[in-house]
Amino acid sequence: MDKSFGRIDAFPRERLARTPTPIDALPRLSEKLGGPEIHMKRDDCSGLAMGGNKARLLEFYFGQARKKKADTVLITGSVQSNYACMAAAAARRMGMACHIQLEERVPDVDAVYRTSGNVLLGKLFGATIHTYPDGEDEEGADNRLHEIAEDLRKKGASPYVIPLGPDNPPLGALGYVLAAREICRQIDDANLRIDETILTSGSGLTHIGLLFGLRALGRDMRVTGVCVRRPAAVQARRLIDLAGRLSDMLGLPPLVGAGDIHLTDAVLAPGYGQHNDDVLDAVRLIARTEGILVDPVYTGRLVAGMVRRLAGDDRPPDGLMMLHTGGLPILFAYQALIEETER
Ligand SMILES: Cc1ncc(COP(=O)(O)O)c(C=O)c1O
Repeated sequence: MDKSFGRIDAFPRERLARTPTPIDALPRLSEKLGGPEIHMKRDDCSGLAMGGNKARLLEFYFGQARKKKADTVLITGSVQSNYACMAAAAARRMGMACHIQLEERVPDVDAVYRTSGNVLLGKLFGATIHTYPDGEDEEGADNRLHEIAEDLRKKGASPYVIPLGPDNPPLGALGYVLAAREICRQIDDANLRIDETILTSGSGLTHIGLLFGLRALGRDMRVTGVCVRRPAAVQARRLIDLAGRLSDMLGLPPLVGAGDIHLTDAVLAPGYGQHNDDVLDAVRLIARTEGILVDPVYTGRLVAGMVRRLAGDDRPPDGLMMLHTGGLPILFAYQALIEETER
């Protein structure tokens, strides 16, 4: 048994993601941007609801929910949360009910934002929807979820809360620790040269999971996070803390140091989920060169962050891979913005 990932087998897991997801070459985008060779790991094809990274994260939360004999899962996120929507889909697949709490995180949104995209899909999955007024209060949002869970328990349900705040064990990151092995196998088998993976860094679970998994396998591939929630300095502290928690959970020595953390907040402005011209340009660029869809909140910021990185002095070496983490339903919630900025 390979012990690179320490005690990972002790954590119960429910299969939700269809893996391995493909790694595709993006020759037209690479040419358009003047090299290097760009690849994309297609976790938007993970097969749960409309796909995305959250399928891998949820495998470990649902593993624990099943172990605890839960019949209801609770989760919190922004109004257009992919995580909440995919959790609702996963709950249905496992015969459970789902409560999703939608937080006000984006100012000045329109009616379509509040009803389309993931909100619509959450309803389709029959999730019970709650609201929370503050999108920047992770602890408060988690506490509110626990209160709802308590009410449900009193009514005879067996609830399980998927927490958001960084003070909880980063169970979801284990999904990307495992994905590191999948990626290494794929690039080795296909003899690809990938020196760097670039991904969005929100809660940080995907970012730290992949980075930790790569280091556990002895790989020195650079992982660059494009900040979508908070400035790079704040996100870096969060990631270091999460890495320490992962080491403790898996019984492994510290594997990720400050030198391993690479972040850019170049396309974060003016804030989470808000209009940024570079991001909309990137959404169109990849649609029109490769026929690939990305969203304005997460993966559009990934492409925009990569374009900025290629344009800067600190150009990456040969062999860059974007991790497409999904988010497709959000595109529809931003219909007005996409139409207004059409050019
Ligand atoms: C489509 C998409 N990509 C990326 C992320 C960021 O992943 P993480 O929260 O693990 O940093 C999210 C998080 O909500 C997401 O929905």
